[in-house]
Formats: sequence, C-alpha cells, structure tokens
Amino acid sequence: MLHQSDQPITGTILVADDQAANRELLEELLAAQGFKVITVSDGAAALQESSRAQPDLVLLDVMMPHLNGFQVCEQIKANPDTYLIPVILITALSDRQDRIQGIKVGADDFLSRPVDRTELLARVRSLLKLKLRTDELERAESVLFTLAQSIEGKDPYTHGHCERLAEYSVRLGKHLGLSQDEITALRRAGVVHDVGKIAVPDAILLKPGRLSPEEWKLIQEHPVVGERICAPLKSFRFVLPIIRHHHEKLDGSGYPDGLRGDAIPVTARVLQIVDVYDALTTERPYKHAFSITEALQTMKQEVDKGWWDARIFDQFERLVRNGTADVLSRSAAAGR
Ligand SMILES: [Fe+2]
Repeated sequence: MLHQSDQPITGTILVADDQAANRELLEELLAAQGFKVITVSDGAAALQESSRAQPDLVLLDVMMPHLNGFQVCEQIKANPDTYLIPVILITALSDRQDRIQGIKVGADDFLSRPVDRTELLARVRSLLKLKLRTDELERAESVLFTLAQSIEGKDPYTHGHCERLAEYSVRLGKHLGLSQDEITALRRAGVVHDVGKIAVPDAILLKPGRLSPEEWKLIQEHPVVGERICAPLKSFRFVLPIIRHHHEKLDGSGYPDGLRGDAIPVTARVLQIVDVYDALTTERPYKHAFSITEALQTMKQEVDKGWWDARIFDQFERLVRNGTADVLSRSAAAGR
C-alpha cells in the first residue's frame, strides 16, 4: 500500500553536526513536528548510527571532524544496507563547489546555512515521502527474495546457491567493467533467477533419475515463469532479461528462446557462467562435486562446443585461479 497524502509523515531522522548549538536547533525543530531525532557529533558516529538505527533520513553537516559530510554521504551510498536512506547535506550559503561535490557523492538534497525552518521541513517531508515509497518497493523485493530462497531451500543440494551466485556474478560483472545498473541487476538476479521453479512440482524438481520429455519441458518453462513473476516490479527491468535468458546457449541450443551469440544479454551470459560453475562444484543427486580444476576443464569444453561466452569464461577462470573467487572456491572445496 502506498503512502496516502493525508497521513502525517513520520520517521526517524539522524542529525550529524559537530556544533552542539546546531544539533539542538535542528533537533528541537524536527521533534516539534513529531519526528524521532537521533543526534551525533562527528562523521564516524554518523556512519555507525546510519547502519545501526537505519534512520529514514540523514541530515549531514559538511564540516565535521574525522569523516566530513561528503565522506559520510559517500559511504552511506556505497553500503547496500544504507544506500536507500536519503541524505541532505548542510553547506555554507551558495557554496557552488560544495554542491557539486555533494552531487558527486550521491547527496539527495542540500540546505544552506543559516537553515531556513520552512525550507528544512519542506525538504525533509518531500524526501521522507519518497523514502516511504522506496520502503514499499523494498518490501515487494524482499517478498520475491524470500520466495526464491524458499524454493532453493526445498532442494538440500542447492543450499546457498543463490547467495553465492549473487555475490560472485557481481564480482565477475565488476571485473568485466559492467555498468552499475547491470551490477545491481546481477545481484538481484543471482537470488531470483530460478523463482519460476515455483511452477515445477517437487517430484520433478527433486527427481534423482532422468526426466521424461514432458518433465523436461516443464523445467524449461521456469525462466519464462520467473520473468512473469518479477515483471510488475519496475526496479527489476534490468533483471528480467537475465531471468529469461540464463539458460540460453551461444550456439542457439539453449532455452527458452534459442537466442544466439550477442543476442543473449551480457548480464545473462555472466550469470550463466557462474551458475554452471556452482552447479558443477557442488554435489547434486546425479553427480559428485567436481574439483575446481575439473569444473573449469568441463566448462572449457563447453565453451569450445559453443555454449558459453569465451571472453567472459576467460575472465572468470582468471578470477578463480587468482583465488579471488574464494566464495565459490570455498564452496567447491567444501563440496569435495
Ligand atoms: Fe535456472
């Protein structure tokens, strides 16, 4: 349910300022409007409280000891646990350079000193309204993640698969220089890519023996079902192609669309390399867990067959051999 405009806007606001008089002024103003206010006097404490208290908004003075407002803002925005919290930077009046710097570190809005009461409340309310909407969206995402994890949980052999996939496809994506949108999509797709398996009965999903052609056909529908489940979420628009195409093969022999080569989105090509590697290096009802070397050899043969992207596999192999792929390497070692 979205926030209704006639409801009063509430929330917890973190105020970080090294000057006690400034903190008190802001606290008094905001508390009088019914907001819960937390105050801190330096940048390090602001960062700590942002993580611990998960405020709905942060008001940051730019000039603070230890970490200044820019540094705090940058770190809040770089942390997946806090990056959705709106940040208002309080700068000196009309300091253009500060504002440019603030935009670079991801600040959502600015206030000039001396702080104007009406302007402060207007900006705070507008950002809190936005935050409420983001929270709604976050809840929808977390329902999807929980659903995906409960599907994974049905199969004792794939335990932790989604988490490893999310983490490692992000590393591979960064290594390949993909955009931030693509990286975020990979993290989400790592968790939800198989959510369409909800439509596959357990008897088929967990069948240790060979699948009949009808059963195999049902399994092959999971990318399309998954795409349909996630489609209503606008924030998942870069995730949908990964879900739909994570079982395509470069030579066109994959499913569901039989796409070839570059027609398969690069993000899907990244996820499938990590997906295949994780499947090979963990035990399944029909196979033992391959060693890292065995898995890479098998995948190399599949690259030569024309299944996987040679360039992406090459970079992946490099990461694994350098030990940067410790998340997966550990799981492979444990699986042996
Ligand atoms: Fe899949």
